[in-house]
Amino acid sequence: MQRPPTILMCQPTYFGIEYEINPWMNVEVAADHAVAEQQWNGLFEHLKSTGIAIELVKPRKGLPDLVFTANAGLVYENRVLVSRFRHPQRQGESPVFRAWFEEHGFEIVDFAPPDQGGGYDFEGAGDALFCGDTLFAGYRMRSDATCHQQIGAILGVRVIPVELVDPRYYHLDTCFCPLSEDEAIWYPPAFDEYGRRAIEGAVANLIEVEQAEAERFACNAVVVGQHVFTNTGCPKLHERLASRGYTTTATPLDEFVKAGGSAKCLTLRLDGEEAAAW
Ligand code: ARG
Repeated sequence: MQRPPTILMCQPTYFGIEYEINPWMNVEVAADHAVAEQQWNGLFEHLKSTGIAIELVKPRKGLPDLVFTANAGLVYENRVLVSRFRHPQRQGESPVFRAWFEEHGFEIVDFAPPDQGGGYDFEGAGDALFCGDTLFAGYRMRSDATCHQQIGAILGVRVIPVELVDPRYYHLDTCFCPLSEDEAIWYPPAFDEYGRRAIEGAVANLIEVEQAEAERFACNAVVVGQHVFTNTGCPKLHERLASRGYTTTATPLDEFVKAGGSAKCLTLRLDGEEAAAW
């Protein structure tokens, strides 16, 4: 079944900084709830205006990071590998996302159970992004290197695992964003030498962001057709995207940056990213 272009999101009703599981989070620096709602609505309206459908998963009290639906799982055609979160604080999200996928007609595929050697951490589209027919898979901070091999076998796709070396860029989608089958945005210092070479060898056109814009989550972009959405504060990236024919929109997402997330983390594409060949 080919789904129409659809994004999964979750309203920030219970969003907040209740624990610290990445270097951006500081429980002393609370998110302003009203502003977070406004910013989330801003992103929602911008995305909606492209004509893409948006599905919503119901927010749950006690799961402040459920807004980051990119971490729900990895969708491939009608199959989904539901995430297994590294940190206990987010582990309660897995059953919520699993139930959503089941209720919406997805086929859930699983890793081997932990007692059969499959107890991997895997944080979904946050760490696994298709560029063409290749799945780029980030590991070390949140997802295990070994799980990516399993994913290749389960889904029958080519996987290029890349190690993430900077704790500030703990998910692949904070430092790498495929735009089309042969084009991507990236922040090279987030990878080691091997990872940089692997990406350079596999993606023909790479748009590098500089540190100041990487810190504004420039790489955490949502791509809908030729339209790219990011947090504010990424003007150089937007200029370069415009010169390549993309339309760009900056929308403020600072309250979510306090949790270590931005535009892309707040979305999960259910029909395949623009850059995915399937
Ligand atoms: N606070 C969340 C965490 O640390 C943010 C997740 C951001 N999501 C992403 N796909 N980068 O898990």
